[in-house]
Amino acid sequence: MKLCMIGTGYVGLVSGVCFADLGNEVICVDKDLNKIKNLKRGIIPIYEPGLEELTKKNFKSGRLKFTTNLSDAVKRSQIIFICVGTPTKKNGNAADLSQVFNVAKEVSYDIKNFKILITKSTVPVTTGDKIEKILLKKVKKKNFSIVSNPEFLREGEAIRDFNFPDRIVIGTSDKKSNKIMKSLYAPLISKGAKYLNTSRRGAELIKYASNAFLATKISFINELANLSEKIGVNIEDVSIGMGLDKRIGGRFLRAGPAYGGSCFPKDTRAIADTAKLFKTDLSIIKSVIKSNKNRSVILLKRVSKILKNKIKNKKITFLGVTFKANTDDMRESSSLTMIPYLLKKGAKIKYYDPSGYKKEFEKFKNVTFAKNIKSSCEGADLIIIHTEWNDFKSLNFKSLSKKRNVIIYDMRNILSPEKIKKDKISYFAIGK
Ligand code: UGA
Repeated sequence: MKLCMIGTGYVGLVSGVCFADLGNEVICVDKDLNKIKNLKRGIIPIYEPGLEELTKKNFKSGRLKFTTNLSDAVKRSQIIFICVGTPTKKNGNAADLSQVFNVAKEVSYDIKNFKILITKSTVPVTTGDKIEKILLKKVKKKNFSIVSNPEFLREGEAIRDFNFPDRIVIGTSDKKSNKIMKSLYAPLISKGAKYLNTSRRGAELIKYASNAFLATKISFINELANLSEKIGVNIEDVSIGMGLDKRIGGRFLRAGPAYGGSCFPKDTRAIADTAKLFKTDLSIIKSVIKSNKNRSVILLKRVSKILKNKIKNKKITFLGVTFKANTDDMRESSSLTMIPYLLKKGAKIKYYDPSGYKKEFEKFKNVTFAKNIKSSCEGADLIIIHTEWNDFKSLNFKSLSKKRNVIIYDMRNILSPEKIKKDKISYFAIGK
């Protein structure tokens, strides 16, 4: 099939490359000429394991093309995916849809025969209806169909998630579009993915509801971890014990720092905002947003307690600063709240992250990027494991720190407390 992905950000690029790998002809469009030039040379703008190889392979085969020419790409394609950003508006919690609507307008000039226009970006309920209105100004009704097809890819696992999705959600009441979408996804359906055809608004809501529910699971277990710490219970046992009940499920029950990234924080805010427009109180989601904001406050209080309220001049090392492992993404990472707070209290911070230097900390004095784990830990009073990179799972902290009384605060519960205690290192974890 002939597809075009508008926007080569996270969603557009991963989906475009993976669709090409399934044998489709895919044109990826972006306004950013530099990005397109780089992509043609195999330089990938995001950090995603396996994506570079897959991009090069499909580009070489000719199935995958990159261009800045939107009009030409639209004319050549039958299925057009809108994959541009939908960030939170500067003032407020609503999603900023200006990029989506601009694309809809631009595309409308080039549709002369039947094409399917799909929102793959996360868009609030009723966005499809608004795009349809924009299209109707220029295009005959019979020549287009607006479909919602939300993506459920996780950063760092995106290629696997694309190829083995739990479900494919297609929001349309148009039978012809549904048939085309089903055949586009046939290779994944035959491998076991469930296919759900629902209304367009239904699909739009499923995306937000899913992210909000996962965020709720995380906040729920994080709050229980607070209780576990007080009553001497291991939160990991609680997660396992709960998760074994199939109705609950064990995934997304890992207690840790505040959830971050480009999706959960933004999408929980946006769905709460949509609900407000429709005069509905999503009180659970609002509580989750509040609980997650408070999460860093709670963990910082514990840091303070661990250091006996003497943060000034303490050398604190952050192992990992990204919002999760296997990504270089810093968006809404809890390290962006924690590090500035500790600096304000007079701490000296060193950090190491396998994804490299972070410009986000440039503006602060007393923050140093260490080029390797060894130099980041040298002389540290406290080592905070902030992100669960594999690189940190089997380190010998005793020889790394060279300090007799180094303390470790393992915010991801990745180390074995028994092993650490054998090394006579003070060890603190989450929910134990
Ligand atoms: C999330 C969803 O998982 C994807 O299904 C969705 O497609 C994507 O958002 C999106 O809307 O585009 P992502 O933001 O890449 O994916 O990251 P997750 O792996 O979901 O992690 C989000 C946050 O939750 C991270 O800060 C992570 O550390 C935290 N988390 C996750 C926990 O604290 N505990 C867990 O058990 C799981």
